Amino acid sequence: AVASDRYRDPEHEEKANNFAEQEAWEKYQIGKATLKFGAADKKNSDDYEYVFEDQIEFIQASIMPGSKVHYFSTHKAAVAMFLDEMQEDRKTLPIFPYRERLLDAITKHQVLVIEGETGSGKTTQIPQYLHEAGYSKVGKIGCTQPRRVAAMSVAARVAQEMGVKLGHEVGYSIRFEDCTSDTTIIKYMTDGMLLREFLSEPDLASYSVMMVDEAHERTLSTDILFGLVKDITRFRPEIKLLISSATLDAGKFSDYFDGAPIFRIPGRRFPVDILYTKAPEADYLEAATVTVLQIHVTQPPGDILVFFTGQEEIEAAEEILKHRTRGLGSKIAEMIICPIYANLPSDMQAKIFEETPEGARKVVLATNIAETSLTIDGIKYVIDPGFCKQKSYSPRTGMESLIITPVSKAAAQQRAGRAGRTSAGKCFRLYTAWSFQNEMDDNTVPEIQRTNLGNVVLMLKSLGINDLINFDFMDPPPAETLLRALEQLYALGALNDRGELTKLGRRMAEFPLDPMLSKMLVASDKYLCSEEIVTICAMLSVGNSIFYRPKDKQVHADNARMNFHAGNVGDHLALLKVYDQWKETNFSTQWCYENYIQVRSMKRARDIRDQLEGLLERVEIEPTSNPSDLESIKKAITSGYFYHTAKLQKNGSYRTIKNPQTVSIHPSSGLSQVLPRWVVYHELVLTTKEYMRQVIEIKPDWLVEIAPHYYKLKDVEDAGAHKMPKGKGKATID
Ligand code: CDP
Ligand code: MG
Repeated sequence: AVASDRYRDPEHEEKANNFAEQEAWEKYQIGKATLKFGAADKKNSDDYEYVFEDQIEFIQASIMPGSKVHYFSTHKAAVAMFLDEMQEDRKTLPIFPYRERLLDAITKHQVLVIEGETGSGKTTQIPQYLHEAGYSKVGKIGCTQPRRVAAMSVAARVAQEMGVKLGHEVGYSIRFEDCTSDTTIIKYMTDGMLLREFLSEPDLASYSVMMVDEAHERTLSTDILFGLVKDITRFRPEIKLLISSATLDAGKFSDYFDGAPIFRIPGRRFPVDILYTKAPEADYLEAATVTVLQIHVTQPPGDILVFFTGQEEIEAAEEILKHRTRGLGSKIAEMIICPIYANLPSDMQAKIFEETPEGARKVVLATNIAETSLTIDGIKYVIDPGFCKQKSYSPRTGMESLIITPVSKAAAQQRAGRAGRTSAGKCFRLYTAWSFQNEMDDNTVPEIQRTNLGNVVLMLKSLGINDLINFDFMDPPPAETLLRALEQLYALGALNDRGELTKLGRRMAEFPLDPMLSKMLVASDKYLCSEEIVTICAMLSVGNSIFYRPKDKQVHADNARMNFHAGNVGDHLALLKVYDQWKETNFSTQWCYENYIQVRSMKRARDIRDQLEGLLERVEIEPTSNPSDLESIKKAITSGYFYHTAKLQKNGSYRTIKNPQTVSIHPSSGLSQVLPRWVVYHELVLTTKEYMRQVIEIKPDWLVEIAPHYYKLKDVEDAGAHKMPKGKGKATID
């Protein structure tokens, strides 16, 4: 490349070249480029001019694998070249020829709908174009993403392209992690975080442009944002609003935004051969791994992308692939397995973007994050088992669960498209052509129509939006679901009987959490155990990745885990014990290893805990602690979760109290063998049956004491001898 010649140093290059073989290079990855830094002892190399103390530094760099290697005398020169190189790269994206026309359209119109194929450069380039055109002088350029991993990775990429440190001019904000500063002018964030920003800045005054990206995903937060940003354009004529999407529903967005013009970026697409299975697959995990191996052995070079429904499946597939290729050594080409899912630590996320070395093949195991949010170059083969994990909600029972469901036709087409971005490709659908035609829905139902709306209703109420029935929804949620949410918030004490936000509700809305968790936090004040509850809250927010259970040491791992359950205290209190003991060892990594605890998850819990503690201070809740008063801790939990109560049946299963439904305690729970009479659970998961995950034992009297709006004595009377103490009737914390 021409750009690189400016930074070359031919003389040094030759000398360093002689050296290159003997040194262990330190490797850095900048975008697609690999930089290697090497150093040698001065005494062995007197004739070098580039001396840094006792060492000679020289830098070897290749822009792309297989391209010419360059040598540089300074780190700075190498980096400067890469920045130039990246600017050249930007010009090759499909969006680049439309840069001026796009900026023109943005000048002329306040709201613009942008449609372009995944990978055309919408997310990474448009905010930069706007910055280069001067919008950042007036205010920040914001860009929302439905997924945290996408927000982080795109921000990192744009920071690189601009040659700035992530968190300075370019930053991101996701729940529990704010990587921005006063100097930030391009800000990527999850759609959920922008919703929260409305609470402190209802007119988005600090922004000159807001780009609602990946609009086709139609997440709950994005759908609510549509209504809020549309409203802002009415009283802030100078703000620019961009709605960008990858698929062909631009017309619908345009209609919703009062006929906003549509800007189409023609994509480059290569043909993708679509192959179906002849008969339905009984086990798609097995079928997918077999297909990976078949492609690897029989097909020409090109990377593979496989879609799974979640972390567990991805880990299982990784295990199977490693197992089956073990020992094959030189018989087959190298296979580089890269998992990608929402909870994957950020240092491991970068791996999927690294260029595949000559002769090897990359296999990306992804959730539907790789459907449109992330573009991975070099994918030639896509394997689509045809499933994804989807939230589903029954307003009748008030139960929400994650269910593995067939994807829609639109999603399947997106997945296939990933194979044809840089050259012709193939997509292996692990289902029949018949089932694609006849069994799959055309489009995915927007999240707003299949989720609990408690969170969103609380948020809208705190923004002063009271008339939810007439909120400007693109697709309104079922009326029943809205009513359910109002009813639940009323039972929690967040709304009064006129549907207005209470003081308690206002405090709850400060927390970026589910209303039930927020209620539990606020209630901890009354029960004088805020320190314990904030820890439990943080541990629950990390998800189910605290305990580690390696295949070859399952018995040890299970024993270690059961230690925390001593006394059958219940899962929430076991989590509290884990955290407190870790804290006592001064957050020791070694301790985590010994106890089969994931240190990464613990660190995340600590970060979340710190953040929540700050928020507690904001709502003026004093730190209080009484670790031995387990009853108070459980009552605080029950204050948030009295909805989730179940009672033991004669046959060993449980029945939920209101809207009866049969459920069981998840085998991973410390109480799965204990079977207490009355339990409160954190969540339901549907696998082979409906399981309660994270369970504590409670006394039924507490329900009437804690939630008198919701439970009457008759609901818990068959509990036997326990009678509610007199005079202890109302115990809301309003
Ligand atoms: O948003 P859209 O799908 O239109 O494209 P993009 O995300 O802006 O991606 C443009 C290019 O940047 C693609 O070639 C990606 O592979 C690349 N990219 C990258 O290398 N690393 C990232 N973290 C994000 C994007
Ligand atoms: Mg994008």
